Amino acid sequence: MLRDIQDKILKAKKEKDYCIIAHTYQAREICEVADYVGDSFQLAVSATKAPQKNILLCGVRFMAETAKILNPDKNVYIANKLAGCPMAEQMDRPYIEKMKEFYKGYTVVAYINTTAELKTVCDVCVTSSSAVKIVSKLPNKNILFIPDKNLGSYVASQLPDKHIVTLDGCCPIHAAITRRDTEEAKKEHPNALLLVHPECRKEVLELADFIGSTSAIMEYAKKSDHKEFIIGTENSIVEHLQYDEPEKQFYPLSKKFLCPNMKITTLMDVYNAIVHDSGYPIELDEDTIVKARKCIDEMIRLG
Ligand code: 13P
Ligand code: SF4
Repeated sequence: MLRDIQDKILKAKKEKDYCIIAHTYQAREICEVADYVGDSFQLAVSATKAPQKNILLCGVRFMAETAKILNPDKNVYIANKLAGCPMAEQMDRPYIEKMKEFYKGYTVVAYINTTAELKTVCDVCVTSSSAVKIVSKLPNKNILFIPDKNLGSYVASQLPDKHIVTLDGCCPIHAAITRRDTEEAKKEHPNALLLVHPECRKEVLELADFIGSTSAIMEYAKKSDHKEFIIGTENSIVEHLQYDEPEKQFYPLSKKFLCPNMKITTLMDVYNAIVHDSGYPIELDEDTIVKARKCIDEMIRLG
């Protein structure tokens, strides 16, 4: 039954000239029908390469907006319109404009988890996999990093020569994980390596054996000779790794590690979007596209 639905998606995708781009947090059955699966940086790069005239994004809204900004002449859809990222919506443009006045002369670095509107007033975007590299290449010592204070503080710890100011934003899912959760998981699995996402709090990162983006965590676990891993990011990564590496053991750092926005898209949403053309179109005005694109192009150039 599941396979039938997947086959119909694959057939309609070809006939209707769709490219399916899925974030690593998407369900297994969605990743299986996607043309590209990856972390936020890889999704943005793959959006620039897709030859199809229609793009269906399975992930959250800021990812679909990024694909639209990079492909203004294509039809870009999100599979489930309820899928937003709460962190991306934590700060609005007037607030950042005020902060820019306050931190005059600072380079404004936006985590890609921001709305298209917010990107229009920033200098460069970064993702979790490219943030350290990109910030290290910026000529300015003074950086205003928005919105994720945890990623910002991780970047600051890696680049002591930079003066990085963060504001009070974060991912509610990653930031909910505490040192105590982490210590308990380590106690339960004393032989496991701990791999965590830099959206986690400093107190969690301090206990990690490896810190990286969703794709970097997967790559590290696959290449490692180690047999057991505690995964400090959304629990879908635990499931993917367990399928990909059945001889290794993967444990969730916490059962709290579930992003409802990433989980809201189902295979049937993908089916309906492609077979019944019910995907939700991403529309952005030209001014927003032009201004936000500078920030994303700069990320791809430096990343
Ligand atoms: P990645 O770029 O590491 O995939 O992160 C995206 C995200 O939303 C993590 O919460
Ligand atoms: Fe946004 Fe956090 Fe969900 Fe990632 S895990 S999409 S940052 S709310």
